Amino acid sequence: MPIEFEEATAEAFALINNLETFVRAVLSGRRRNMMPEAEKIEIRPVKLKDEIKLQMIELSGTSSKTVNLDVGSEIVKKLMNSGFANILIESVSQSMTIRFTKKGDAQVFVEQSKKSQSLDHDKHKSRLLDPSDSFLREVGISDAQGRIKPTKQDKYLQVEEFLRILAPTLKNAIESGHISVDDDKPISIVDHGCGNAYLTFAAHQYLISTHHKIKVIGIDLREQSRIRNIAIASRLEISDSIEFRAEKISETDIPAADITIALHACDTATDDAIAWAINNNSKLLLIAPCCHHDLQTQIREVPEPWSTITKHGILKERLGDMLTDALRAQILRLMGYRTEIIEFVGDEHTPRNLMIRAVKTGARPEQNEFERYQEMLKLWKIVPKLSELVQIPL
Ligand SMILES: C[S@@+](CC[C@H](N)C(=O)[O-])C[C@H]1O[C@@H](n2cnc3c(N)ncnc32)[C@H](O)[C@@H]1O
Repeated sequence: MPIEFEEATAEAFALINNLETFVRAVLSGRRRNMMPEAEKIEIRPVKLKDEIKLQMIELSGTSSKTVNLDVGSEIVKKLMNSGFANILIESVSQSMTIRFTKKGDAQVFVEQSKKSQSLDHDKHKSRLLDPSDSFLREVGISDAQGRIKPTKQDKYLQVEEFLRILAPTLKNAIESGHISVDDDKPISIVDHGCGNAYLTFAAHQYLISTHHKIKVIGIDLREQSRIRNIAIASRLEISDSIEFRAEKISETDIPAADITIALHACDTATDDAIAWAINNNSKLLLIAPCCHHDLQTQIREVPEPWSTITKHGILKERLGDMLTDALRAQILRLMGYRTEIIEFVGDEHTPRNLMIRAVKTGARPEQNEFERYQEMLKLWKIVPKLSELVQIPL
């Protein structure tokens, strides 16, 4: 509704110009019959000399343009009205989202969430992966000048944030004795559904740089991926410690690995990856699931009063996604893994931004956890794919 939208953009504008609290804004998507100037715009406060400016980065296709605007600039207000479908404003204590429906109605959502503000104009300083690192150029994330390609910004951030979780989780697992390191045995990592191996190479390079002796294997169905990835490994002269295979996850004969990772392995390939990790005694799993079709198609009879939710198609789909991941996490728990589900990257970088993180402790959970799991399956009349791939000690 136009009035609400005007009120919402006025509030958004005020949030952006409150320099005490503003963290960043992202404008993306396109409203029906409208053509905003860029595909995506990011705005954040930066300190340049002694003055704070609003740094605006416009991303379109393969190009990006950065402009520093004065605080309070009317350009920001105009941009919010220029046809973007999603406007996200983050401040230190809340996130406000304005979304346009296909009918053109504006919906406003506000949720409390803690963020920290950075006025550093050179964000590269806090990065784990230096954009000019040769491996990022080789895999095609950076250009010849060592800048992240605009079309690869989201993938770069997904990989970087994935590593930001891998690093301390591995450190804790080593310190608490769940993963043992000795000079003769490298830490082994398998990346399932590695595709172009952005994450596989990143994990390899990052862990080598933090003085771990490692062995990394990337698996993908596609032979072209394997050929491309081994050629990159050879150019980087790391073929001794990184290997690629073209095979199905469910058919691989790789015997074991300390760490199992997967970033958006399609649908039930995620279940294959988790099952492989459980059946091969992986100690640490970081799995960011992709699309979920398995349970979506199984949910036919909805237990009441859940139809209150499932009568809305989009909510039924999201509930199916949540059930899938919640049951994956529950199965891991029943198999002796300490498990949690976290957001590994902001949802503006991928809508598939959940990660299942699991560390093998071997502890058997309370009996009621097994009962809860069985009750869920009975209630929804479903059989999760993962339950068919592992032997749950019920
Ligand atoms: C969405 S892509 C993600 C690629 C990569 N992990 C990334 O984040 O850029 C999913 C990849 O999983 C691979 N894949 C799907 N099912 C698979 C299976 N059963 N076994 C091995 N690879 C599979 C596909 O070939 C594809 O390259």
